[in-house]
Amino acid sequence: MKIKNICCIGAGYVGGPTMAVIAKQCPNIKVTVVDINEARIAAWNDENLDNLPVFEPGLDAIVAEARGRNLFFSTEVDKAIDEAEMIFISVNTPTKTYGKGKGMAADLKYIELCARQIARVSKQDKIIVEKSTLPVRTASAIKDILDNTGNDVAFQILSNPEFLAEGTAVEDLLSPDRVLIGGDTNPEGLKAIEALADVYANWVPQDRILRTNVWSSELSKLTANAFLAQRVSSINAMSEICEKTGADVNEVSKAIGMDSRIGAKFLKSSVGFGGSCFQKDILNLVYIAKSYGLNEVADYWEQVILMNEHQKQRFSDNIVSTLYNTVSGKKIAFLGWAFKKDTNDTRESAAIKIADNLLNEQAEITVFDPKVVEERIYADLEYLNTRSNEENRNLLKVENDPYKTCENAHAIAILTEWDEFKTYDWKQIFNKMQKPAFVFDGRGLLDKETLEDIGFVYYKIGTGQ
Ligand code: NAD
Ligand code: UGA
Repeated sequence: MKIKNICCIGAGYVGGPTMAVIAKQCPNIKVTVVDINEARIAAWNDENLDNLPVFEPGLDAIVAEARGRNLFFSTEVDKAIDEAEMIFISVNTPTKTYGKGKGMAADLKYIELCARQIARVSKQDKIIVEKSTLPVRTASAIKDILDNTGNDVAFQILSNPEFLAEGTAVEDLLSPDRVLIGGDTNPEGLKAIEALADVYANWVPQDRILRTNVWSSELSKLTANAFLAQRVSSINAMSEICEKTGADVNEVSKAIGMDSRIGAKFLKSSVGFGGSCFQKDILNLVYIAKSYGLNEVADYWEQVILMNEHQKQRFSDNIVSTLYNTVSGKKIAFLGWAFKKDTNDTRESAAIKIADNLLNEQAEITVFDPKVVEERIYADLEYLNTRSNEENRNLLKVENDPYKTCENAHAIAILTEWDEFKTYDWKQIFNKMQKPAFVFDGRGLLDKETLEDIGFVYYKIGTGQ
């Protein structure tokens, strides 16, 4: 079966870039990305490519090439579903904030709404592809809904989780380590798997297209994120021991990373991992384990999150204790708010928690981030509900000039590893700060000797004082 029309429900961080790359690489397939969020679709259709709703290096050029040719963004969900032979579901699957599983389980209401809409609209057989990250066995719930429409339409459900990382989404999509496709093992299922494999085969080598059963595919996605996050928590746990013992976590990372069994990637100690998925997916895994009565398994993975919370907490505690046990009325400059460099995404960013802790201590915070807009920063704080919006706006200011951000500050906290921070004139920054001038480098970004030579009191995560 040759696919000619693809629809993707959900034009977010995954749906937008993923479909843009499919459209670029498969000019003969019409790809329509739909969303109920009109503002988001309008932004994807904006003439000015600087206004795309997702910032990713290289994405603007791909959208410019394919949009209007075979890539379309629309709010007409029913129409796109009706036209497509293959439908990707790429909607959000946040942690539940109510009811059973609150704070742990994935909230599947958006997925279910999509399934019901597909069931209502479809007149011909379709392949449904789970692109969102889902608990293992979700495909059976989707199938249940689709198979009970009574309209004689046959559906195949595939799991095709996405492994892209933000900031490198285009690169990851153009040359993925692997593409994972899970489906039924009966002849119809295998045919559906091959139809999707054919789409990817336009640019991904066959040996990187992995076919599995649907449950393995769903569970592999949660497993991959759990393993990645676990590496960060493991190295962050070591960073605290390094600080106490005079070891340097960067040297430790290098030393262990050269062991080919361990590997060098994902061993960078930080102020804590953020992003929309690591925490959500591990909580989901913990919930699944508990629901099968696997309490030891649940406890094991929960530690990854507890360690991450601890890493954020001890970073802000250290700022307070170093600044003579009070930051009340002191200006703390934040460099970075995004959860990692090269993205405008701030979901679960460590900076939010650090800011909240320091605001509780009545610090006056000024934030600069090269890509995050002021309203996003206030929205992140407001979402916590710790204090009134007015108080947040009084205590925290957002600047668009890094030098002004640091002027008169008692301390600087580096919370995102933006490359440009390394190129700043740190002597000039030092001259205009309160003395002693402190830098708390939560990303291990700057050179200790250079900063200390200028006169800073410099704290780098994971290095002994
Ligand atoms: P997102 O919030 O950026 O985008 C989801 C979009 O779906 C939103 O624009 C929302 O309006 C839309 N939507 C929700 N319900 C809808 C409906 N019924 N009809 C039409 N549109 C609807 O989320 P995201 O970051 O793109 O993540 C999507 C999924 O992909 C999640 O399951 C996530 O875990 C997974 N994932 C994310 C990443 C990442 O880097 N962000 C990477 C891999 C996997
Ligand atoms: C992560 C995974 O890397 C992707 O494979 C996955 O598709 C995605 O989650 C998802 O499912 O959403 P992402 O969250 O975009 O991607 O970014 P990462 O590069 O994984 O970084 C996550 C967090 O860990 C960031 O805050 C980053 O600063 C931190 N990190 C990462 C470290 O602190 N140290 C490291 O060595 C690596």
